[in-house]
Amino acid sequence: MDIKKAEFLTSSSVPTQCPDPDRPEYAFIGRSNVGKSSLINMICNKSALAKTSSTPGKTQLINHFTINDTWYLVDLPGYGYAKVSKTQRKSFKLLIENYLRHRSNLMCLFVLVDSRHKPQNADLEFMRQMGEWGIPFVIVLTKLDKLKASEKEINIANYKKALLEEWEELPQIFVTSAKKGEGRDEILHFIDQVS
Ligand code: GTP
Ligand code: MG
Repeated sequence: MDIKKAEFLTSSSVPTQCPDPDRPEYAFIGRSNVGKSSLINMICNKSALAKTSSTPGKTQLINHFTINDTWYLVDLPGYGYAKVSKTQRKSFKLLIENYLRHRSNLMCLFVLVDSRHKPQNADLEFMRQMGEWGIPFVIVLTKLDKLKASEKEINIANYKKALLEEWEELPQIFVTSAKKGEGRDEILHFIDQVS
């Protein structure tokens, strides 16, 4: 599949404002600043489709993008960002939870994690929660261009090892760089297969 058309549709502050669930939808989630919005732009080949920022906490609403007029990509706010107020963090959490648990057309969730860091508790806990809620997810390692060639394999292997400590089977893992375009074909191929 290729993306011929990618358009911003709407931002929602509550899940009930989201567009009708009348087509397959894929959402991107992960800690603040992990690269969700950048990856959406890279996949769509449009540098300013989703708003990005070097300051964590940029995306604060549920953003829907219509792809090829037939499916949705969704950019979600990051979780676990320490600098926003406790109240705001709670409201992001609630927004994400309500969205994830009730979005009937959500085909798969892409959980983004920074390839430079060891598996973080917040991410592992989030994945555990997805397992409990029965939400299908895959993992995306981001910012691979920031790793030296020698570090890449080691970090990927370490990530898998940590996951296997609590998951019997590894979820699918994509290796990406929004800067270099790495992982785009694999993700689009996956979406094609699932839809
Ligand atoms: P929030 O909306 O705040 O939760 O962040 P986000 O996850 O949407 O991250 P965003 O895409 O805004 O990117 C955060 C920062 O990381 C920006 O400065 C991006 O330029 C940078 N970034 C994202 N992806 C990559 C990547 O693959 N490589 C490099 N080198 N930088 C990246
Ligand atoms: Mg964002």
